[in-house]
Amino acid sequence: MAQQKGLYIRTFGCQMNSYDSTRMADLLAQSHGYGLVEDPAQADLVIFNTCHIREKAEEKLFSELGRLRKGMRGKKTLFAVGGCVGQAQGELIFRRAPYVDLVFGPQNYHLLPKMLDRLKRDGGHIGDSSIPEEPKFDLLPQQSSTSSVASVTVQEGCDRFCAFCVVPYTRGREWSRPVEDILHEVTGLVSQGCLEVQLLGQNVNAYQGRDAEGVVYDLALLIRRVALVSGVKRIRFVTSHPADMNADLLEIFAELPELCPYLHLPLQSGSDRILQRMGRGHTVAEYLEWVDRFRHLCPDGAIASDFIVGFPGETEADFAETLAMVERVGFDHAYSFQYSPRPGTSALELDGVVSKEVGSQRLAVLQKVLNDVQLRKNRQRVGRIEAVLVEGASPRHPGEWVGRAPDFRRVNFPSSENLLGCIVSVKITEGLPNSLRGILA
Ligand code: SAH
Ligand code: SF4
Ligand code: F3S
Repeated sequence: MAQQKGLYIRTFGCQMNSYDSTRMADLLAQSHGYGLVEDPAQADLVIFNTCHIREKAEEKLFSELGRLRKGMRGKKTLFAVGGCVGQAQGELIFRRAPYVDLVFGPQNYHLLPKMLDRLKRDGGHIGDSSIPEEPKFDLLPQQSSTSSVASVTVQEGCDRFCAFCVVPYTRGREWSRPVEDILHEVTGLVSQGCLEVQLLGQNVNAYQGRDAEGVVYDLALLIRRVALVSGVKRIRFVTSHPADMNADLLEIFAELPELCPYLHLPLQSGSDRILQRMGRGHTVAEYLEWVDRFRHLCPDGAIASDFIVGFPGETEADFAETLAMVERVGFDHAYSFQYSPRPGTSALELDGVVSKEVGSQRLAVLQKVLNDVQLRKNRQRVGRIEAVLVEGASPRHPGEWVGRAPDFRRVNFPSSENLLGCIVSVKITEGLPNSLRGILA
């Protein structure tokens, strides 16, 4: 039997990129018999699935690519750069890294088998960052999964054009997958043992997909349908935009036991002036209304957010408003970043550039406050009994399992039983900075 060819995929960026990597692996297994390998030295094809969101993410790509190539010691391996840098830079990548054979984007990876065939036949380089008309999902095999948690992209691209963000340029126009496609994929995942589905979209609560009869579903309706798929125990959705929030979507948190009490709702800044300059399309007061309503419907729920500091025009007073919002809302979890100017975005034309030094000082202050709030909130969970979906053995604590509570908090607990993929009751005994610890209840 011919030896299986090795495929190594290095994924950067958001969950949508991770999802795409899974789909590429399935596709290339089917089309060319590639099997995933963990060591790039064993690979015949190396794919970097890249992120363009901040300058740092992009720099990491080129440094890792160079390092990895050196380690190959002359072995003939194909190098491909896909994802959002592939989309944004296209053939420019060949100038910076001439040993790359193939460049593609997040909207045309379903054409990878054809690109590989062409490369084999004609040699040279292929740089294809087209956004084809045909829906890529129709041309991919069913997602294979051995895990109890899986993601399903329901919405692609973004039409919001926030002033700082490259996503509308890298992932293209907003587009929702048809309802039956999503249900089909979810059913397939459940039949392979999946218990939790995470519905993904860059602006997931703007979902507007059609069913076979042409009826348009919003996200709330889609979630109601997904909850009806037999075997689905847990549903989450990320990431929501405050300006696309609606009352119905919050109501289902109280209505559907399958919907996990976790809302990721990025705020970016606590200052109305900055929100307006960012083009976010909502005010701080509107954000607070959604938060209060969520907390009312879902008192045990968790709210997560994203923040940017040092956006052009941000004063000390604006920044103080962000800090005040962190305390006011009491975020259970948050990602925070220093503003990074991105090619093609409208923020490049704004005045009031904040120096790198001031930006990094503000980031340190914000992260301290976010961490303090998060630890406080984690400690408040002590004494509760949480239903934990066990995702694996704890990598750091031998003899312990790690899983997620419904509110997405990570929970570690000891047990000598094999609990992988089970939902177990854990009594929380300790709230740590980034996780909880407990014992089987
Ligand atoms: N669609 C989501 C965010 C997607 S990008 C939303 O609208 O909220 C993920 C996060 O990266 C953003 O929420 C933002 O906090 C951060 N980010 C995006 N562009 C950035 C930039 N140019 N500089 C710094 N952080 C950025
Ligand atoms: Fe980017 Fe704004 Fe779209 Fe989020 S909503 S992906 S921040 S443009
Ligand atoms: Fe990055 Fe593209 Fe996701 S830019 S955050 S990988 S959509």
